[in-house]
Amino acid sequence: SQRTLVLLKPDAVRRGLTGEIISRIERKAGWRITALELRTLERATLEQHYGEHVGKPFYEPLVEFMSSGPVVALIVEGERVIEGVRQLAGPTDPIAAAPGSIRGDYGVIVRENLIHASDSEESAEREVKIFFPGRA
Ligand code: GTP
Ligand code: MG
Repeated sequence: SQRTLVLLKPDAVRRGLTGEIISRIERKAGWRITALELRTLERATLEQHYGEHVGKPFYEPLVEFMSSGPVVALIVEGERVIEGVRQLAGPTDPIAAAPGSIRGDYGVIVRENLIHASDSEESAEREVKIFFPGRA
């Protein structure tokens, strides 16, 4: 089975949507949450996490936003969970995301798209080490 790193972004926490989002993940048969923490992210942590985007035009506003309030960080484990949580989230742009997906149901702005989920096994292992070094 797999594990993935999920972040419920500051907009999800501010809008009181964390319970709703977590419950969509919890209801999937065979997936389980194995770590969960509310935390405000430092710039250095975000620079590691979003290293691939450093220098892009949306990077600075992204880091501003991601450090603007607490996030909920989770590890979710289970069968095909990496692809599965990305599917629950929907595409990066919430307007392109279908109703029924988290971003499609609750999002409008590309930056404030509620949830992050690792996009590959390599990303998942890298990101778990950043957010839960004890669980590496
Ligand atoms: P994450 O799970 O947060 O990594 O989202 P993603 O994998 O769907 O998208 P990606 O890794 O490509 O980009 C990371 C985040 O940067 C996105 O979730 C958006 O919040 C933001 N972002 C990406 N592309 C754009 C863009 O073209 N414009 C703006 N404003 N923000 C972007
Ligand atoms: Mg990404």
